[in-house]
Amino acid sequence: MKTPVRVAVTGAAGQIGYALLFRIASGEMLGKEQPVILQLLELPIDKAQAALKGVIMELEDCAFPLLADVVGTDDPEVAFKDADIALLVGARPRGPGMERKDLLLENAKIFTAQGAALNKVASRDVKVLVVGNPANTNAYIAMKSAPDLNPRNFTAMLRLDHNRALSQLATKAGVAVGDIEGLIVWGNHSPTMYPDYRFATAKGVNLKDKVNDADWNANTFIPQVGKRGAAIIEARGLSSAASAANAAIDHIHDWVLGSNGKWVTMGVPSDGSYGIPEGVIFGFAVTTENGEYTLVKDIEVDDFSQKAIDKTLAELEEERSGVAHLLS
Ligand code: NAD
Ligand code: LMR
Repeated sequence: MKTPVRVAVTGAAGQIGYALLFRIASGEMLGKEQPVILQLLELPIDKAQAALKGVIMELEDCAFPLLADVVGTDDPEVAFKDADIALLVGARPRGPGMERKDLLLENAKIFTAQGAALNKVASRDVKVLVVGNPANTNAYIAMKSAPDLNPRNFTAMLRLDHNRALSQLATKAGVAVGDIEGLIVWGNHSPTMYPDYRFATAKGVNLKDKVNDADWNANTFIPQVGKRGAAIIEARGLSSAASAANAAIDHIHDWVLGSNGKWVTMGVPSDGSYGIPEGVIFGFAVTTENGEYTLVKDIEVDDFSQKAIDKTLAELEEERSGVAHLLS
């Protein structure tokens, strides 16, 4: 039997948590041979702790062979102790009519404290995925609050946007979603994100040439992917949960086990590529292998793409300056 991997999940009793934990415990994230220990964090309020207790009871009732242990706590330093993977989901979600940046300051405090706790007690190789919105800036705050950890280990979730774009493109192009390669979502997890299918192929066929519809790209594909989160809130009265949990599983699965040469989108600290200032957590195309991600370099950026990248970067810079006072 392999040594169990310690997976910390914050906001564990929330709706994404409920869609996530059972799939992690059944081996869908790290593989069917890999035991896990779940270290679950919830707010120190009775209702949240009671809900967490109920979720843990259900985890027990599944009798998952790979679930070596479950810890429930309201203390980040207990949840993150020796964590190999930390899924930072807990945050206040957006309601109808709110933009993600309305949540900025409220959630910034959470991620300052959690970054500091990770810095203190997590494994030095911890892989952190921030799901809670605004995800890119929260990941930036956590990274800056953890000066002893490698900044590369802090990532934000753009995989849901990537999956949304894959699905819409597959429908438009009439190809199987699993055959698509070479898709990117640049930038912020917000309506300014830039889903870019210029290099996407399916079974070797270039989909931009196949679709050949600039109007669809500019006026349907890009805005629909960017505003899909709001459309789901409008329809469900709650933000996306099962698809968000699924994307978190895809993100960590590929980071740990590899993407087999495929491009996937991760929000990672920029190394200065594509003119994105170093440290800004930006959606880039990456490939993953042996637990490491590598930015895909030298993607051609045309005028249309440059404008889109500039727009989403400007928003991220604005968010960053909005929280700068919390980080000094
Ligand atoms: P939810 O309200 O159902 O659950 C959030 C949970 O987090 C609650 O149980 C709450 O008690 C807990 N929580 C809040 N602050 C906490 C803290 N400091 N420590 C520990 N737990 C805390 O929300 P949800 O639907 O599960 O969404 C969670 C977050 O994920 C939201 O910010 C949402 O906007 C975001 N989200 C991101 C994406 C993405 O693609 N990046 C997609 C969907 C949702
Ligand atoms: C999403 O994209 O579904 C989430 O980020 C929820 C939201 O606030 O849009």
